[in-house]
Amino acid sequence: MLLLNPFFLASTCLVLGAVYVWQCISSPLRKLPGPTLTLFTSWVLKYHEFRANRTRYIHSLHLKYGPVVRIAPNEVSFASLEGVKEIYGSGGSGYDKTEFYDLFMVYGRRTMFSTLNKEDHARRKRILADRYANTNIMKSSSLDGIKERSGRFIERCSRSVGGSIDVFICKVKRRLHDYAFDGVTHHLFHPYGSDSLRDPKDEEVMKQVTFDDSLQNRLVEYYNPTLHELIGNILSVFAKPRETPLADDLVISACQKTGSDQFTLLHRMQDKSYGLDHMDMAAECLDHMAAGIDTTGDALCFLMWKLSQPRSMSVQRRLQQEILANSGMAFDKLPYLDAVVSEGLRCFPAIPMSLPRYVPPGGRTIDGYPIPEKTIVSCQAYSAHRIDQAVFPEPELFNPDRWLEEKGELDRKRLFFAFASGGRGCIGKHLALAEMKTLLIDVYSRYTTLPDGSMTEEDMEISDLLISSQPRAKKCLLRLEPLRGGEMLR
Ligand code: HEM
Repeated sequence: MLLLNPFFLASTCLVLGAVYVWQCISSPLRKLPGPTLTLFTSWVLKYHEFRANRTRYIHSLHLKYGPVVRIAPNEVSFASLEGVKEIYGSGGSGYDKTEFYDLFMVYGRRTMFSTLNKEDHARRKRILADRYANTNIMKSSSLDGIKERSGRFIERCSRSVGGSIDVFICKVKRRLHDYAFDGVTHHLFHPYGSDSLRDPKDEEVMKQVTFDDSLQNRLVEYYNPTLHELIGNILSVFAKPRETPLADDLVISACQKTGSDQFTLLHRMQDKSYGLDHMDMAAECLDHMAAGIDTTGDALCFLMWKLSQPRSMSVQRRLQQEILANSGMAFDKLPYLDAVVSEGLRCFPAIPMSLPRYVPPGGRTIDGYPIPEKTIVSCQAYSAHRIDQAVFPEPELFNPDRWLEEKGELDRKRLFFAFASGGRGCIGKHLALAEMKTLLIDVYSRYTTLPDGSMTEEDMEISDLLISSQPRAKKCLLRLEPLRGGEMLR
């Protein structure tokens, strides 16, 4: 009966509310810069997450409050070198990942990316790392496959001359994503990789992996698994769950085959001494496939968009000159190309978002602030590349020259967070750079790229997916003009 007494209920709510408020205002995070509301609730952050706007919201807080900002009662974002070093580099691979990464389990298994603690991660990385080492990527069997696929992309480009080409998506085609898909599956399975640039069936597989509208559905799964289980079916009418049956078939059947080339990841994982079963291999490969498509595809898309702007024409000309003057030179020997790629990834890191980690037992001091254990801390590349203007002056300016200056070189490299850093940084970095540079050489030795008149800056604003980003309009229309002989000498 007492439970039905309104006076009792009201007093209980009041006491509980007072205890909650007291806990919030006595939290050690109260001393951190940040909106007062974030001491009490994470709803504002969640609102922005559901609207695919987390990255830009957090960046706006960094612009207002500086490199350290409280974004929720138990969550802090850092945009400083000290933050990056401590969170991702201390002890080699930094702090442990949070349960956010449960969303990336594949077939119910943890992959290297979704392992949460150092020990499990180190065990898996010992098996896989060698296949992503630069020496392996630079082998001719690996590079020839990338060049071949880049050649197929150029064939597609040549058909668009006189009109425009959508390098992001063309309702049915995502050309740069096709290229990235074929590139990564070549590295995973050759000779069983995909040919989506020519085969519509393979292109369907790529679309399924990359056409991801599951952000809201997966956020509910993360924040409230019980609710997700209860209303999952209704929810999927409004926000699609992530399902990739075609990609599952491709990966599961490729992992059953023997005879893959020595440089591939599959060849390595099939070595019996590592004790991986068939589904472990399939889960790992599906994960790397997904990790390698949108990232490389989007990074190239944003970079080609930037290069195509009228104000970047001098950059494009200089890039073309370097490429044409060094025809046949290895892609990693071209300093201006390297600067252009670094600047592209600085302005538009394909994973611009926070990479959440837990503060270890006992708590830590990060960038001068004592942070209690189990607090979620993170850096996001989008802000790390912009907030410290002593390292990156005029951060909104696309200026590859900044990477050629000797002064400040070390700081720039240390704050460059597009591939994250430390032991859990991107294992596919060398593959991604090889793919990006090969394609840029092939495109800019043949064409000048210009934005299509129908495109606006707003179309190319970043819109968050679960961890990566894409252009808000889901399109990037460019015009390609063939270079005429001698044009570059002017
Ligand atoms: C421009 C292209 C790429 C960018 C910007 C990028 C960025 C990143 C970032 C920021 C992380 C850390 C994520 C985190 O801690 O939550 C990461 C991890 C990872 N990336 Fe990439 N990536 C790219 C391409 C690739 C490619 C081509 C592959 C492989 C085929 C790949 C495979 C992975 C894997 C397996 C991890 C997990 C590493 C670990 O936990 O040890 N990535 N990547």
